[in-house]
Amino acid sequence: MKSRGTVKKRRIAKVLSKSPEETQSIGAEIGRSLPIPGVVLLRGALGAGKTTLTRGIAQGLGLTDTSLVNSPSFTLVNIYHGICPIYHVDLYRLEGARDLYSIGLDDFLGKEGVTVVEWSERLSIALEQATEIVIEDAGDDLRVLHIQVFAKTGNKRR
Ligand SMILES: Nc1ncnc2c1ncn2[C@@H]1O[C@H](COP(=O)(O)OP(=O)(O)O)[C@@H](O)[C@H]1O
Ligand SMILES: [Mg+2]
Repeated sequence: MKSRGTVKKRRIAKVLSKSPEETQSIGAEIGRSLPIPGVVLLRGALGAGKTTLTRGIAQGLGLTDTSLVNSPSFTLVNIYHGICPIYHVDLYRLEGARDLYSIGLDDFLGKEGVTVVEWSERLSIALEQATEIVIEDAGDDLRVLHIQVFAKTGNKRR
């Protein structure tokens, strides 16, 4: 998981959503196109739509009962079963790195299934490959989703 090469960020899209339903269907499209194993890092204020987007991502990964997708605020992680395990992590209440070990993050992050992390700015782990989505609340029901992909491009030359 630790990266020695150069990690390059590439902005791939800026997507507008005008409703929670639209955010969910954008999520479903993202879910259908993710690599497995894969990681999605979500950033954005409380109420931005991170959980709503995660519901769509899980749907796109084959989860039929999307009502199961809710913020795992007390347990830090929920696991859903689609075409692969879906680990839904919410770090809003993270108290320290020890919490991350207690949920076994190191065993699945980037290694098995798809992991979606809300409040990913609290994650202090270098990843080789991930999709990062920053959700900006543009007022009322309007949201702007900034989607970036980053991947390791190889070792730095001297
Ligand atoms: N375009 C939109 N996309 C997502 N959520 C929206 C949108 N417009 C309004 N909302 C509302 O914003 C809230 C988002 O909640 P949630 O997904 O739990 O956010 P977060 O997980 O970022 O705290 C919900 O109440 C939802 O109905
Ligand atoms: Mg949430």
